Amino acid sequence: MKPTKIADGIYDVGVIDWNIRDFHGYSTDRGTSYNAFLIVDKQVALIDTVKAPFADQLIANISQIMDPKKIDMVISNHTEMDHSGALPRIMHRIGEQKPLFCSKMGARNLAGHFAGAAWNYQPVADGQELALGDRTLTFIETRMIHWPDSMFTYLKEDRILFSSDGFGQHYAGFEKFDDQAGADLMRQAKKYYANILLLYAPRILALLEKVAASGIRIDMICPDHGIIWRKNPGTIIEAYLKWSRQIPEKRAVVVYDTMWKSTEIMANAIAEGISSTGVAVKPIHIRSSHRSDIMTDVLDAAAVVVGSPTLNNQIFPTVADVLTYMKGLKPASKIAGAFGSYGWSGEAVKLVAEELAAMKFRLIEPPPRIQYVPDPDDMATCMAYGQKIGEAVMAGPA
Ligand code: FEO
Repeated sequence: MKPTKIADGIYDVGVIDWNIRDFHGYSTDRGTSYNAFLIVDKQVALIDTVKAPFADQLIANISQIMDPKKIDMVISNHTEMDHSGALPRIMHRIGEQKPLFCSKMGARNLAGHFAGAAWNYQPVADGQELALGDRTLTFIETRMIHWPDSMFTYLKEDRILFSSDGFGQHYAGFEKFDDQAGADLMRQAKKYYANILLLYAPRILALLEKVAASGIRIDMICPDHGIIWRKNPGTIIEAYLKWSRQIPEKRAVVVYDTMWKSTEIMANAIAEGISSTGVAVKPIHIRSSHRSDIMTDVLDAAAVVVGSPTLNNQIFPTVADVLTYMKGLKPASKIAGAFGSYGWSGEAVKLVAEELAAMKFRLIEPPPRIQYVPDPDDMATCMAYGQKIGEAVMAGPA
């Protein structure tokens, strides 16, 4: 693939992974890209690499600009294998003793990933600068956004931020810039934030505040996945501020699974009750929707209502999957509801409520629990429960 010139002497030499549909449990419905950036100055730097199977493509892309042997250094902003997998091939090609700049944790991680390699690690500190010739790089520590090793690299003269996974999206396309991408861009960016970064929202807020206070001007953001923000990087920064503050919209999701449709009937009645209060609501059948899409809807919903049948005295397994996943990502300030149909023991609703309480959600009481098929009175109970949830959403944040 032809490298993309992003500024004078700066290229995206990364690759597109058109066909990936599962990224460690995240549904990448439109594939992804592994971006890597070549900065050609008196010294030539390569920022990040790509997933191991794409190493040949990366080398071929670089070769369209220069002989890869002329690369003077590699900068590893992030050691996760989608960005470091091709390092062994790259280091072998450019020279094993060329400097490899990374955070201190990055050096430790790379040594753990590539135990046989004796690379020339050059751990950097937060704020440390590195002159390439006419250009200067500044390293910005972004620990736990989203791995211990994570860092950004800022190119001072061009005001370009190479932001590792931050501001990324799993988006495959020949279009490379935000002014070329369609409406799907923000959906993919939101999905990426909800599933990869939400857990680190407080750190992201602190980082954005630190960057704003430093007066650093950012004209372009180059993430390691997807589209480069060149026209209006402020759009994605503003979105990150909103998502990190977890400011809810007046919207609810009713997430459920069902065995013989009774819990589904309840879900629809609860959703109707919520809707009757003027709150937008989306019923989501778990087996018709991927957990990563569910999390995208949960991200800025004010209310999360979870329904489960009881199976073998437990929460239905698919519902447990979503709850475990959601709990790990730490969404905050939600109003919550629980419900479910059961046959004879009926533990699931109580167990779901406990999970929601463990996430510090404010549970609306009493969660409906109905034996077998809902009758008209049960339907009225579900509608009333939905109305109560909708009224709580209209009243304000949890
Ligand atoms: Fe795209 Fe955390 O790797």
